[in-house]
Amino acid sequence: MTEVAIVIGSTRPGRVGEAVARWVHELAAKRGDAEFELVDLKDYDLPHLDEMMPAAMGQYSQPHTRAWAEKVAGFDAFVFVTPEYNHSTTGALKNAIDFLHAEWHNKAAGFVSYGSNGGVRAVEHLRLVLGELQVADVQAQVALSVFTDFEHFTAFKPGEHHEATLNTMLAQVVAWGEALAPLRT
Ligand SMILES: Cc1cc2nc3c(=O)[nH]c(=O)nc-3n(C[C@H](O)[C@H](O)[C@H](O)COP(=O)(O)O)c2cc1C
Repeated sequence: MTEVAIVIGSTRPGRVGEAVARWVHELAAKRGDAEFELVDLKDYDLPHLDEMMPAAMGQYSQPHTRAWAEKVAGFDAFVFVTPEYNHSTTGALKNAIDFLHAEWHNKAAGFVSYGSNGGVRAVEHLRLVLGELQVADVQAQVALSVFTDFEHFTAFKPGEHHEATLNTMLAQVVAWGEALAPLRT
């Protein structure tokens, strides 16, 4: 079955990203078309990129790089849950992406973002970055507002209307994850 990672893009203490990712996972788990797993960047404790060789060479020297590579390699597709930091994604997520190369290739990605304008600028940046890594980014996107989908900017209370968009996005991610399977062999 298609394996989809739900990646928590914020590592900040007190982050709201974990609650958002758990909501995504809860709804995704009700689908029967793929396996969904939460992947928390915090668990991989990646420093700022510390590999001597470019990731495209695939010669990973550090144990943390190998552990992260092994994890990412096991998935067919990704849902990136990202806040907007200074009109982009988080440094932690960009760094985690930069650590690897072939492990991302020919896989699908969708996005759940949040911010004052739904985090849409973070996702536009991510789409550019992932294009370089041959990740196929789907059209549907869940854009959550820190004003209306959170109480006091912290307690996550998503509007019900987001569920339909989330399901559309997940369906696109699973379909493209499956469609690209022949290229990953
Ligand atoms: C360094 C930093 C920069 C931010 N820049 C933006 C921004 O450009 N646009 C925006 O809508 N929100 C911005 N925010 C607000 C975050 O989107 C909001 O705090 C969100 O809850 C952060 O996600 P997290 O709690 O999961 O880390 C910024 C927050 C931080 C910490």
